[in-house]
Parts: sequence; structure tokens; C-alpha cells
Amino acid sequence: MASLQEGWLPDAARYETASYNRCGRSGLKLPPITLGLWQNFGGIDPFENQRAMVRRAFDCGVTHFDLANNYGPPAGSSEENFGVILQKDFRAHRDELVISTKAGYRMWPGPYGEWGSRKYLISSLDQSLKRMGIDYVDIFYSHRVDPETPLAETMGALDQVVRQGKALYVGLSSYSPEMTRKAQAILKDLGTPCIIHQPSYSMLNRWVEDGLLETLGELGMGCIAFSPLAQGLLTSKYLNGVPDQARAARAPSFRPEMLSDENLARVKKLNDIAQQRGQSLAQMAIAWVLRRPEITSALIGARTVEQLDDSLDALKNLSFSLDELTEIDKYATDGGLNIWRQSSNADAEV
Ligand SMILES: NC(=O)c1ccc[n+]([C@@H]2O[C@H](COP(=O)([O-])OP(=O)(O)OC[C@H]3O[C@@H](n4cnc5c(N)ncnc54)[C@H](OP(=O)(O)O)[C@@H]3O)[C@@H](O)[C@H]2O)c1
Repeated sequence: MASLQEGWLPDAARYETASYNRCGRSGLKLPPITLGLWQNFGGIDPFENQRAMVRRAFDCGVTHFDLANNYGPPAGSSEENFGVILQKDFRAHRDELVISTKAGYRMWPGPYGEWGSRKYLISSLDQSLKRMGIDYVDIFYSHRVDPETPLAETMGALDQVVRQGKALYVGLSSYSPEMTRKAQAILKDLGTPCIIHQPSYSMLNRWVEDGLLETLGELGMGCIAFSPLAQGLLTSKYLNGVPDQARAARAPSFRPEMLSDENLARVKKLNDIAQQRGQSLAQMAIAWVLRRPEITSALIGARTVEQLDDSLDALKNLSFSLDELTEIDKYATDGGLNIWRQSSNADAEV
């Protein structure tokens, strides 16, 4: 009988040199680099390129793929495309994958289409499972704090989806240290420990160093750092103008002020340091977030297989000398202060 697996077999050696990090004090291990499907996996993007990136990632030992209800555009289409890839290429490999999704940002019209009510979270996860064609996700996140819904209701919904068998683990994204502590306490009481936090973190955006990483270490939660390349700014691509296909030219999430002369001067210096280390700037930026013991995984994006390959090679040199770290701080911070000035909730994905 013809198999849907026909045509593609993953690299049999994919686990031979791969290593994995334990996620906090949980039993789950994650790859040091995870592929996120926020951009470049939507209905507007070429499907075969998406498929090639997911295949390559898996071939290189990347077992974790991160999604959210609203990824696209249009919202929902990344989950649909990923579902097709799963169906075509990964039917024999579901148990080798850690698939995450989230709910929190606007997904459908009306009062139940965003934030953190039980009504929204549970129906959103049901929709995500349908779009991806799977029975459960490995990690389900509350994507942002809802200032109006009681935290106990949002956490109760996370606990409920685990009890329903629709998620194996739960996580928080962009919660402050204080809200993380409260959320974890509620979930622990309910018997569903929260194993992971997903905040933004890069050489230019260090808000997590102001209490969050310490809190996660104390609570035994893992941390997956998103946008370690600052959406592509921490690469060499903008040093000679804006390439046509680059995110700055295509996506509203890349704010024009990110390309200020001051930022570009910083990036140029960081690029010099990376070159002295024999790495691309993208590789150094990924290695840099992984230097902290609290970071379980660097959550990257990619537009091409070549970019993905370049980024995965970050793992070839993860160590920094004290001098290198000091040099990086000199150019990536303002006298040690975070220049990006992002707060925990600043990364709306709409
Ligand atoms: N929880 C949240 O609120 C939240 C928010 C944002 C993101 N996320 C997650 O984090 C993931 C990653 O976010 P992100 O895409 O902003 O991450 P990123 O890794 O900081 O940026 C990825 C972009 O950088 C460029 N790039 C990647 N590798 C490159 C390389 N080796 N050389 C040159 N350029 C390279 C590409 O942009 P070009 O198109 O310009 O080449 C690529 O799309 C998302 O997919 C999502 O899963 C979560």
C-alpha cells in the first residue's frame, strides 16, 4: 500500500550529535535551538519552502516547533500549513516532536476572541488542534497576561486542557516575574506545574535579566527565549541598506525605528566581534542567549533553509570569554542599561 511517508525519510543520523536541555525541573527535554513559525509560514508564503525548513530542522535534531493561534498571515494559516507538513512528512514521527501553541492575542471577532478567559482559551486550543490535525499539543501557553480576567480563571483553563488530554504541559509568555510567581503558585495547587516561560530576549533586549530569569531558576521553570536575533536586526543584513526580502521591508512587526543610525552603529560593532570569534553575527546572537543557564532553548525564526543552517551552526561555538562579554555589553547596552526598553508585554504579534 502506498504510504504518505513516501518520498521523504528523515536523516537517520539526526540524533547522533544532537544534545537536549532539560526544561527547568520538568522531565521534558528541548533542543537548544527551536524553530518558530510566527513569520514565513503563513498563507502568503511559499509552502514548499516552509516544508523544506521544517524538514531540515528535524534532520538537524530540532524536535521543537513553536506556533500560536494567530500566526500567519492570515491568522491561523501557519497552523494549517504546519498541519499539512505533519500529515505529509511526519506521520510516523509525532512522538518525536514537541509542538507548542498559544492563545492570548486577537483571533476572532467579538468578546471571546482574545485575552485570557476560560471561554477563549479552551475554544482557541480546540481550533488550533483542528487546524494542525492533531489530538494534543505538547505545550499550551497563555500568550499574555489578561488584566481583566482573574488569573485563577486563566490558570484554571490551562489546568483543564491538560486534564482533557489536549495539552501535555503548560507555559506562560511575556508574564512579569510577579505574575509568573502567582500563576505558578495557582497551577501548582491545581496539580499542573507550569514548566516553561517564553519571553523576548536578545543582546539588545534584556528585560528578562531584571528579575525574570532569577525567578524562573528559583521556581524550576525552563525558559525559551524568542527573537534572539531581534527579528533579524542582529545579523549583518542591514549594514548596507534594507534588502528587498528582509523583514524590515515586508512585515509591520519590524518597526522602522529599529533601524536607527545608533542601532546600526551598535550592530556593526557587534558584527566585528562575531567575526573575530569566527562566527556570523546571527550565530553569536544565538550563542549569547544560550550562555545563561536558565535558558533552555533559543527560539529562532528563519526565512530560508540557508538562514536556518547558518543559525543552527551557532551550536559550534557557545562559549564566551569574559573580555568578549564585556565588549558585547559595551556596544549592545547603554553603560550596562538595556537600550531596547521593552517591557514584558511589548511584543504584540498582531
Ligand atoms: N511569545 C511571543 O509573544 C512571541 C513573539 C515573537 C516571536 N515569538 C516566537 O519566536 C519565534 C522567532 O521569532 P523571530 O522570527 O522574531 O526570531 P528571530 O530569530 O529574532 O528573527 C528571525 C528573522 O531573522 C532573519 N534571520 C534568521 N536567521 C538568519 C540568519 N542566519 N542570517 C540572517 N538573517 C537571519 C530572518 O528575517 P529576514 O526575513 O529579514 O531575512 C528571520 O525571519 C517566532 O516564530 C515565534 O515562535 C513569540
